[in-house]
Amino acid sequence: MFYPTFRARRIRGNETFRRMVKETTLSVTDLIYPMFSAFGKGIKKEIGSMPGIYQQSIENVLEEAQEVFELGVPAVILFGIPEVKDAIGSDAYAEHGIIQETIRALKKEIPGLAVITDVCMCEYTDHGHCGIIKDGDVDNDATLELLARESLSHVQAGADMVAPSDMMDGRVAAIRETLDNNGFSKIPIMSYAAKYASGYYGPFREAAESTPQFGDRRSYQMDPANRLEAVREARMDVEEGADILMVKPGLPYLDILRELREEFDLPMAVYNVSGEYSMIKAAGLKGWIDEDRVVMETMISFKRAGADLILTYHAKDVARMLKAGNVIY
Ligand code: PBG
Ligand code: ZN
Repeated sequence: MFYPTFRARRIRGNETFRRMVKETTLSVTDLIYPMFSAFGKGIKKEIGSMPGIYQQSIENVLEEAQEVFELGVPAVILFGIPEVKDAIGSDAYAEHGIIQETIRALKKEIPGLAVITDVCMCEYTDHGHCGIIKDGDVDNDATLELLARESLSHVQAGADMVAPSDMMDGRVAAIRETLDNNGFSKIPIMSYAAKYASGYYGPFREAAESTPQFGDRRSYQMDPANRLEAVREARMDVEEGADILMVKPGLPYLDILRELREEFDLPMAVYNVSGEYSMIKAAGLKGWIDEDRVVMETMISFKRAGADLILTYHAKDVARMLKAGNVIY
């Protein structure tokens, strides 16, 4: 392929050709919108570090979810901010917990919108860790039981899919077994398979009020330096019965996404996390970047790296841009 016989620019010469040879596409059905449901009434509190994203009480979650649904986004993933937190995260698996009530309301009002729930303890524990504390560390096996209970209670409330984000060993198997034993063998599990201990979760912890009160999450979330470990983590989840694998965060871990895409034949999801959102928003608001363009470029980078699904706070904006057809992806 030598110049001048070959000229790479020929095929880029006009918009029609560019569209015809596009290798990767983005569709509204690739998107999952994260939402924060807070206990109470009349609450709609913008997250300081995430312009456009709110902690809201159920009636406001419903209103925004309706908008999300009308934009064609097929699914939301829910995070809860309970009335009270305790050492064992009781609200996480309470029949009338914040998430359980939110799921019921959503499935009643907007049955066509898929409801996925984040399964973890950190939003519900007073210490902010993703499980039960024993001797100053999260106890893996004691936590498994609670995660299984939490998943079951979400599904009993009507959740269409559960997404464990805790990074305990064996959680997919524990959840699968509990769901199956209770008649929910049809409910899929999207596992946060490769979840790194990341500074990019900072704004989320403000949104979910889930900052660890001591220490950090490095005894259960992955070291950003590790690639092979991601393959091992994903393999465990596949063998335990995961239906969809997720990589998180997104942009700084596109290599991991590609790696897992090559290695496994399950659908792949990527979480474009809070810090990634905040950076684009902040630069966009300052006029330092063209926000719409950078958002769409970011989305297509996930698809190109191998994602089938993108969890993103930009979902509504992306859906609007796709609808308007003003962005070519
Ligand atoms: C709960 C959870 C977190 C995120 C998703 N689920 C936070 C964390 O692990 O600290 C982060 C999402 C984001 O930053 O947007 N374990
Ligand atoms: Zn957690």
